[in-house]
Amino acid sequence: MNKKITVVQVGCGSISKTWLQILTSRDDILYVGLVDINIDMAISKKNEFHLTCDVFTNYKEAIDLLKPDLVIDTTIPKIHHQVVTYSLKAGCHVFGEKPLSDSMANAIDMVKTADKMNRYYSIMQNRRYINNIATFKSIITDSKIGELGSLNADFYIEAHFGGFRDVIKSPLILDMAIHTFDQARYISKCDPISVYCHEFNPKGSWYKGNASATCIFEMTNDVVFTYNGSWCAKGALTSWECNWRAMGNLGAAIWDGKTRPFYEIVSSNDKTSMFPNNYDQLYLETKASTLEYHQGCIDEMLSSLKSKQPSSTDCHDNILSLAMVMGAIKSSKEKRKVLISELL
Ligand SMILES: NC(=O)c1ccc[n+]([C@@H]2O[C@H](COP(=O)([O-])OP(=O)(O)OC[C@H]3O[C@@H](n4cnc5c(N)ncnc54)[C@H](O)[C@@H]3O)[C@@H](O)[C@H]2O)c1
Repeated sequence: MNKKITVVQVGCGSISKTWLQILTSRDDILYVGLVDINIDMAISKKNEFHLTCDVFTNYKEAIDLLKPDLVIDTTIPKIHHQVVTYSLKAGCHVFGEKPLSDSMANAIDMVKTADKMNRYYSIMQNRRYINNIATFKSIITDSKIGELGSLNADFYIEAHFGGFRDVIKSPLILDMAIHTFDQARYISKCDPISVYCHEFNPKGSWYKGNASATCIFEMTNDVVFTYNGSWCAKGALTSWECNWRAMGNLGAAIWDGKTRPFYEIVSSNDKTSMFPNNYDQLYLETKASTLEYHQGCIDEMLSSLKSKQPSSTDCHDNILSLAMVMGAIKSSKEKRKVLISELL
C-alpha cells in the first residue's frame, strides 16, 4: 500500500479523539468520513481536527459510498459487532477499540467474518505498549528469574465515573480487567486454561454492580495468574497498569506499573541459608524509547496491515483475552471454576 490508507471512523465520543490525534498526524492516512449517530459529535471532531471529509449518522451509508480501506470502530461495546461485521463484509480492514465485543458469540462471529472475508481486524490494547512493561516481560522471557511459576496483578483505584459503569453488573471485570488480563498474556506468553472468579461489592461502594473481584487463572506452562482488583479503593492506590509480581524458580520480579521494573535473586553469600534474607536487586537495560499506549498499538497495527501480517492484537489472538473476561463473569455467576474451552 503506497497510496494513503483511506479511513472512515465510526463513533466520535471520548476515545475517538485519541485515535484522531494520532491518525491525523500521520502522512499515510487520509480521513474520508466521520460517523456518529449524534451528528454534532462527528461535526465537532471534523472541525477540531480541521478535516475536509464528509460526516454521516449512518455507518452503512458512509462505508457503501466511500469504500474506505480501513474502518476505525470507536463505538460502544454493544455496537462493535454490527459495525465490524458490516465493514469486513464490505471489504474493509478494521481497527477497533477494546473490548472485541460484548459477548463470546458475537466475538466468534467477528473472527469468522474476518477469516471469510480475508480482512484484518485488530483490537486496541494500549496497555501492552509501554516501555516498562516490555522490560518487565523481558525479565521473564529472558529467564532472569528462572521458570515462571506465578504472576500476580493488583489493581486498586478510586474511580467516581458516574454513568453506565455505576449501574452495570460487573463494571470492574467487564470494563477494565480486559487490560490487565491481556497484559498478563503478553507478559507471561501464556494462554488461559481455566478461571475461578469471586466478584463482590464491598461496604461503602458507590457502584450498583460488583466493583471488586479476585480471580485465579490456570495458564499454559503450569503458570498461575492471580488478580485482585477494586474500583472503589479508599487509599493505597495502585497505578492503572497494576502492581505486578512475577515469581520464578530463581527469583522474583516487580513492576509497579509506572517506574522501572526490577528483579531479585538471592545473594551468593546467602544461597545456603535456611531463611535467606539477602537478595541482589537487579535491573535490565530499559528498552530504547518506542511509541507507547495508543500510539504504539496503532503504529504496530498499521505496520502489520502494510506487511499483510496479523498484528499482536489481531482478533484471532485477542479473543483469548476476551475469553478471560467472559470466563471470569461466568465463574462468578455460576460460583464454579470455568474452563476457557467452554467459551470458545
Ligand atoms: N483503550 C482505552 O484505554 C479506552 C478508554 C476509553 C474507552 N475505550 C473503549 O472505547 C469505546 C468507546 O468508548 P468511549 O468512552 O469513547 O464512549 P463514548 O460513549 O464517549 O463514545 C461512543 C460514541 O459512539 C457513538 N455511537 C454509538 N452507537 C453508534 C452507531 N450505531 N453508529 C455510530 N456511532 C455510534 C455515540 O454516539 C458516541 O458518540 C468502548 O469500547 C470503550 O471500552 C477504550
